Amino acid sequence: MAIDTTTYAVPLARTISDMREQVASWRAAGEKIALVPTMGALHEGHLSLIEVAKAHGATKAIVSIFVNPTQFGPGEDFDAYPRTEATDAEKLVDRADLIFAPNGSEMYPDGYGTTVSVKGVTNTLEGEARPTHFDGVATVVSKLLLAALPDCAVFGEKDYQQLLTIRRMVTDLRIPVEILGGPILREPDGLAMSSRNVYLTETERKAAGQLNVILKETADAITNGADLKTATADAESKLLELGFDKVDYLTVRDTTTLQPVEKLAEEARILVAAKIGQPRLLDNMPVEFRG
Ligand code: PAF
Repeated sequence: MAIDTTTYAVPLARTISDMREQVASWRAAGEKIALVPTMGALHEGHLSLIEVAKAHGATKAIVSIFVNPTQFGPGEDFDAYPRTEATDAEKLVDRADLIFAPNGSEMYPDGYGTTVSVKGVTNTLEGEARPTHFDGVATVVSKLLLAALPDCAVFGEKDYQQLLTIRRMVTDLRIPVEILGGPILREPDGLAMSSRNVYLTETERKAAGQLNVILKETADAITNGADLKTATADAESKLLELGFDKVDYLTVRDTTTLQPVEKLAEEARILVAAKIGQPRLLDNMPVEFRG
């Protein structure tokens, strides 16, 4: 195969060897290469990650599009996950220099038997709710990083635990890549952008817009001295009253270990996962400590 320059306006690689060839020639020309891993269904949040890479000095951006089967658990939305490669490619015009969109067997060769498993930071929150999820993420991200060997790779802070997991993995495996976090991009009412927001009905979408409002109110109350347990329990009750079906967690955690915080003694992070209708919404933000 070779890089495909006719299907979309942005060059497309379907194989690791094609992508590597392109990366090698960029590197020889002194370019600084960024990788933005995605599962497609691109929105402004993804596009902002390319901007983060460029602001950090990247001169070439590769966006990978791969709906990774191993990070979906049984009964999750792998089959239904939106696959919109052509519209994704349009959004990347003048933004990305290469799309890497491999098929399943390029990423998981026949008989594959290797899983990357990160301990510690994955043992809680999403790791409890979705026990195989982070193995799938760590495995595919390590493959993508080793395939592209970029100078930097960017991941959104909306999946805060994922970002910490990837940082841990890259440190542990000594993968020579700089991991950058991109701030959460929000809709006008503050709902964190997510490819899964398309699953929300009109009524659910309205209630979903309150998630960040309640999270912010709770974070501010805790900063101002409110009892942490009471404040988070109140926030959970408000979400259920608003029509959320289930709150998996709404909790204040240490910013790097994600261990529970009993009493605020330094900046922490408040994180939530709550189900409304079909999607499970994630959000998080810092909880300031004013000493
Ligand atoms: O955040 C995502 O979209 C995915 O988890 C990632 C990092 C692209 C791995 O499949």
